[in-house]
Amino acid sequence: MKVTLSLDRSYAEDLSIMVDALRASTTINTALQSFKSVITAKNVADAVKLAEINQATLAGERDGAKIEGFDVGNSPLEIKNLKGEVLVLTTTNGTRVLESMQSKVLIGSFVNAQAVAQRALQLADNHIEIVMAGVKGRFVIEDFLGAGEIITHLKDEKLDEFAIASLMASNNKEEVDRAVRNSNSAEGLRALGLEKDIEFCLKRDIYDTVPIYKEGIIKAFK
Ligand code: MLT
Repeated sequence: MKVTLSLDRSYAEDLSIMVDALRASTTINTALQSFKSVITAKNVADAVKLAEINQATLAGERDGAKIEGFDVGNSPLEIKNLKGEVLVLTTTNGTRVLESMQSKVLIGSFVNAQAVAQRALQLADNHIEIVMAGVKGRFVIEDFLGAGEIITHLKDEKLDEFAIASLMASNNKEEVDRAVRNSNSAEGLRALGLEKDIEFCLKRDIYDTVPIYKEGIIKAFK
């Protein structure tokens, strides 16, 4: 199996795993513990409309902060306390990157690294692409290290050089945690009082859920 790593956009036709470690991947995994599905929306207006149609809980952020009038931000810890049928979610990077993908799409991060890697091996024909969501097209270290955590479970496959680099960078858990805590994204979240989300997003393999995205709807793979 070929395993490649890319940033911001997907090139694969087989299977991709979207990684947005702080916080969309973690939020989606968390939401699927107590919601039947997550519907992604490109922008605020679409999210409001989709929430009305689906009588859904409305979640999302812009620049990390909860959007005015929404039920909740993109906070896994806040969403953990909610439940319902449908959660509509709009985020700056994670949901936008998902909408550009053409292959089978799974969603992963530290919280479900092992489960998503195993499921990807079952579902892919010959290529698993891991896509770092990044921030507005730019590389961010937390997605690189979240990808590395997933690649830890794929290390016997045929890795490209970018994937090898993220695997090597993920070798030491304490260093990974420190780098994520010191990242620009973490700094932004701390400034918004969302420090606890950072620690939650760093938890390893707390879920065996594998979110699968298709045409705007995310469900737990069964
Ligand atoms: C995103 O999708 O842009 C992020 O998850 C931002 C965040 O809410 O931390």
